[in-house]
Amino acid sequence: MRENPFIHHRPQWRTHIGFLLAAIGSAIGLGNIWRFPYLCYKNGGGAFLIPYFIALFVVGLPLMILEIGLGHKMRGSAPATFAGISKRWEWLGWWQVIFVMFGVMFYYSVIISWCVNYFAFSFNSAWTNDPNNFFFKEFLMVSESPFKIGNLRTPIVFSLVIVWFLNWVIVFKGVQKGVERANKVFMPLLFLLTAIIVFWSIRLPGAKEGILVYLRPDFSRLKDIKVWIDAFGQIFFTLSVAFGIMIAYASYLPKRSQIVRDSFIIAVSNCFFSLFAGFGVFSVLGYMAHTTSAGVKDIVSQSIGLAFVVYPKAISMLPYFSSLFGIIFFGTLVIAGLSSAISIMEAFTSAIIDKFHYSRKIVVSVISILGFLGSLIFATQAGLLWLDIVDHFLMQYGLIIAAIFECILIGWIYKTKALRNHINHYSTWQIKRWWDVSIKFIIPLILLVLLISSLRAEFLKPYGGYPWLSIILIGRDWLIYTLFFSIIVAAHPWKIDPKDRILSF
Ligand code: PHE
Repeated sequence: MRENPFIHHRPQWRTHIGFLLAAIGSAIGLGNIWRFPYLCYKNGGGAFLIPYFIALFVVGLPLMILEIGLGHKMRGSAPATFAGISKRWEWLGWWQVIFVMFGVMFYYSVIISWCVNYFAFSFNSAWTNDPNNFFFKEFLMVSESPFKIGNLRTPIVFSLVIVWFLNWVIVFKGVQKGVERANKVFMPLLFLLTAIIVFWSIRLPGAKEGILVYLRPDFSRLKDIKVWIDAFGQIFFTLSVAFGIMIAYASYLPKRSQIVRDSFIIAVSNCFFSLFAGFGVFSVLGYMAHTTSAGVKDIVSQSIGLAFVVYPKAISMLPYFSSLFGIIFFGTLVIAGLSSAISIMEAFTSAIIDKFHYSRKIVVSVISILGFLGSLIFATQAGLLWLDIVDHFLMQYGLIIAAIFECILIGWIYKTKALRNHINHYSTWQIKRWWDVSIKFIIPLILLVLLISSLRAEFLKPYGGYPWLSIILIGRDWLIYTLFFSIIVAAHPWKIDPKDRILSF
C-alpha cells in the first residue's frame, strides 16, 4: 500500500470506552426521552416492545454492525468509504452527511436551545399556570402559516448561540480531546441525572398507574401496520444509523477492535435507556393524573407537547423541590441532545477533511457559523412549523431512501461476504449468513414497505394540514437541494484515491 499521510495520521480514540460512550452518546438523544415513551404508550404499551425489539434485532443491529465494520475497514467518513467501494456511489455518503448536517442539525440544535431556555425557566417556573399558552404563544409566538416567518425569537437566538458555541468548542478540539472527552463527562452525568429523575418520580403518588398505562400490553394493537412502521422508524432515528455517523466514529477505531460486540453494546444500551427513561416520564404523568383526578390517558401528549407543555405543568405540581426537578429534567435533555449534535458535526467534518484536507479548526469554525445561521430559520415565529415539515421529510424519506441505497451498495455491489469476513476477522462474536440475508433482502424490503406506506399517506392529505405549497417548497425541496449538492461535491476529484484507505488483513 502506498504511504498515505492522511491515513497514517488519522485520529484515533484514546480508549475503547471512549469510543463506546461517544457512539452511545450519539444514539441516546432527545428521541429516547420524549419520543420512545410516547410511541410505546400509543402503540399498545408493553406490546409495542415486541415490534420494537424485532426492529432492533432485524434491522437496527445488522445495520449498526454494517456501519461500524465499514468505517473500521475503510477508515474514512461515509463519502470516503462509499467512494472507496465505487466512485459512482460517493454521492450517497455526501447526501447522508449533508442532510443530517444541513437539515437535522439545524432544527435539532434549536430544540436543544429550547431546552436551555426551559432549564433557565425552571428556576422560577416561568411557564406560569398555563404552560400550553406559555410555550406556543409567549415563548415561540408561533405564526399561523409556514410562510409567515415573523421575527426571530430573541431568547431562542440567545441560547442558540450557547449551543453552537458548545458544539464548536467540542468538535474543534478533535476526536480525543473534544468528542471523546466531552462524552466521558456527558454520558455518566446523563445516566446519573436520568436515574435521579426515575427514582424520584416512581415514588410519587399515582406513579404506579402511570407506569401501568405505559407498559400494560394490548396485543390487539399489533395487527395495525402503523404500529410496526412506528417501531422501525424509531429504531433508525434512535440508533443514528444511515446518517454516516457510525461510519465516521468507527473510522477512528484501532485495528484491534470488537466490531460485533461493540455494535451490540451500543444498540442494546440505547434501547434500554429509552425503556428506563420511560418509567420517569410515565410516573410523572401518573402523578399528575392522580393530583388532578384526570385519567393518565387524557394527559399524555406527543413529543414536543410532552416535554414543553405537559412536563412543565407536572413539575409545577410537585410537592417539594419542584425547581430542582425541572433543572435536572431539562439539563438531562440538553446533555442528551448535545452528545448527539456533536456526532452530526463530526460526521460532516471528517467527510470534508477526508476529501479536501482542510484543517479541522477551519472546517469546524466555518460549519459552526453556517450551522448557526441555518438554524435561525427555525428560531423564527414559523420555526416550529418548519421544523415539523423538514423533520417529517428527512426522517420519512431521506433517511429511509439513504438506508435502502446503503443496503443495495453493500449487499449487491460490494458484496456482504467480503465485509462479513473482515468483521469476523476482528471480532470474537461472529456473524453468520443471516447477516448477509438481512442486508441484501430483509432490510431493503422492510424499508420499501415503510416508504410506500408513507408515500401513500402523503398523497392522501397534506402532512400536518399545512398548505401543499409549503410542504413542497420546504419539505420536498429540502431533500432535492441536499441531493443536488451531494452530487456536485461528489463530482470533485480526490487528491488521494479513497481505495487506498482500505484496511487490509
Ligand atoms: N439518535 C438521536 C435521538 O434519538 C437522534 C439523532 C438523529 C442523532 C440523527 C444524530 C443524528 O434523539
